[in-house]
Amino acid sequence: MYNKENKILIIGAGGQIGIELAQELSLLYSPENVIVADLKPILSLPNNPFEILDVLNKDVLFSVVKKHNITHIYLLAALLSATGEQNPMFAWKLNMEGLFNVLDLAKEKHIHKVYWPSSIAVFGPTTPRLNTPQYTVMEPSTIYGITKQAGERWCEWYFRKHNVDVRSLRYPGLIGWKSAPGGGTTDYAVHIFHEALKNKSYECFLSADTALPMMHMEDAIRATIEIMHVPAEKIKIRGSYNLAGISFTPAQIATEIQKHIPDFKISYKPDFRQDIANSWPQSISEIESNQDWGWKQTYNLESLVSNMLENLSHS
Ligand code: NAD
Ligand code: SER
Repeated sequence: MYNKENKILIIGAGGQIGIELAQELSLLYSPENVIVADLKPILSLPNNPFEILDVLNKDVLFSVVKKHNITHIYLLAALLSATGEQNPMFAWKLNMEGLFNVLDLAKEKHIHKVYWPSSIAVFGPTTPRLNTPQYTVMEPSTIYGITKQAGERWCEWYFRKHNVDVRSLRYPGLIGWKSAPGGGTTDYAVHIFHEALKNKSYECFLSADTALPMMHMEDAIRATIEIMHVPAEKIKIRGSYNLAGISFTPAQIATEIQKHIPDFKISYKPDFRQDIANSWPQSISEIESNQDWGWKQTYNLESLVSNMLENLSHS
């Protein structure tokens, strides 16, 4: 299943997902077959070959692919929802042109397979917010969501027109203890653990009752690796698959943290990210992922909170 002839390139490997994905793929393929690339060196991945790479530079991307005989690319370089709103034209450029540069390499048969993540941000204020289905109204109101929705359509188009084997997941907000989040609306659900352990208090930038779907990073990395390794015929959706994760509010996660740190206090000071959160689903249906490629998540809110606190208190 894990063909050691494959050579993997992770672009944006120094980010929240990339560090953990590189570590897991290195266990499966060995570190020398997992090349990590980013705009600057990645101190936490000392055993993987590293390349300085701007995904917008097509020539350098091509030379890195040829130098390492890359077969698979995981494209993680992007601006996320909060930073995207602050720099919309650059978010459009990075999120779209980066994707085209990688899809074109697959179209021209220089690489065999592409992974590109989408997001719950593809949905918008007119989408049904509870148990949001795979197929529904999608009118994203953030530039980030617009790039993800357009990206999904392009992935599907490259598959249909050019037989590009591209696979994608709509991640919920991701929560892990090994790496820091990079400018999203769901980042509070990582920061809250650090502040709970350090200061026993946290000022949340979303209101107490803002429910959003979230997922433990271990589940997200496993989903990513699973979807990239199932036979191509099982992948019926070449846009991007819904993943449900766990839905909770800041007040609910705070209550769960208080079971471990009884004097932890949370306060609320919503900022511009509240509007973004209000436009996203509160919970997601993942039936197609369950049926098509056998996805099953493992964490619930209780186990996510105890895992985060335990690991962060030892790190
Ligand atoms: P991140 O911001 O933590 O990491 C992105 C990495 O890309 C950074 O290390 C950055 O230096 C690098 N990068 C930026 N511009 C680059 C460029 N031009 N060339 C090469 N590298 C560049 O992001 P993340 O949270 O790891 O997200 C990775 C992907 O997953 C993104 O597409 C994001 O939209 C998607 N996603 C993330 C979440 C989440 O909760 N983290 C949820 C849904 C989708
Ligand atoms: N976690 C991401 C964000 O908040 C969702 O894609 O931007």
